[in-house]
Amino acid sequence: MIDFTKIQDSIPYILQGIPVLFQVVIVAAIAGMLIGIVVAALKITKNGFVRFIGHAYTAVFRGTPLILQLAIIHFGLPQLTGYVTTGYQSAIIAFSLNSGAYISEIIRAGIQAVDRGQWEAADALGIPYMKQLRSIILPQAFKNILPAIMNELITLTKESALISTVGVLDVMRRAQVVGGEKALYFEPLLFAGFVYFVLVMGLSLIGQQVEKAMRKSG
Ligand code: ARG
Repeated sequence: MIDFTKIQDSIPYILQGIPVLFQVVIVAAIAGMLIGIVVAALKITKNGFVRFIGHAYTAVFRGTPLILQLAIIHFGLPQLTGYVTTGYQSAIIAFSLNSGAYISEIIRAGIQAVDRGQWEAADALGIPYMKQLRSIILPQAFKNILPAIMNELITLTKESALISTVGVLDVMRRAQVVGGEKALYFEPLLFAGFVYFVLVMGLSLIGQQVEKAMRKSG
């Protein structure tokens, strides 16, 4: 029988995983954004070799499972470097590198979706390249990529459950701990599912509001 009263006293313990999860998601989103901008820049240069580096980066981090990247960083790298990272540090590194690959594609596609006429018009006006990019192309690209960036935040929030595999006490891990202690897994796991669901709903609501505001401001 499902009986939530049996895990009632453990609910605050599970909820304490929320700030833990958010720390990883927020830091990884910011670092991933910076990596994404750099990698996207590599991918749109005229130099073929530089473009190759950008595409190779994305291929590696999109082409292998995130849980594997996390495991290599947490369990594999210390063997090479002799330097042990905490689960939290490994999580931030893995999620930033991984998200950077996805974000670089979002940004690249966003920039390339801006009509070529915009570049040509700016060219005709004699505006220098970096200024074209910064003042004309990026503001338009930004509007196009916003929904995809919100999507990435949602993905990060859900995928953050993987950090439970390197000993970080996030919502997922805490639900498992409670399950082990009470020899009762269904209720804590279902509750954890509910927590993730509410977080994701909150994020998509914020996304909708931001989009609406952007549309109004033209
Ligand atoms: N589960 C997928 C993987 O293991 C998700 C990767 C993360 N996705 C993302 N947009 N950051 O590769």
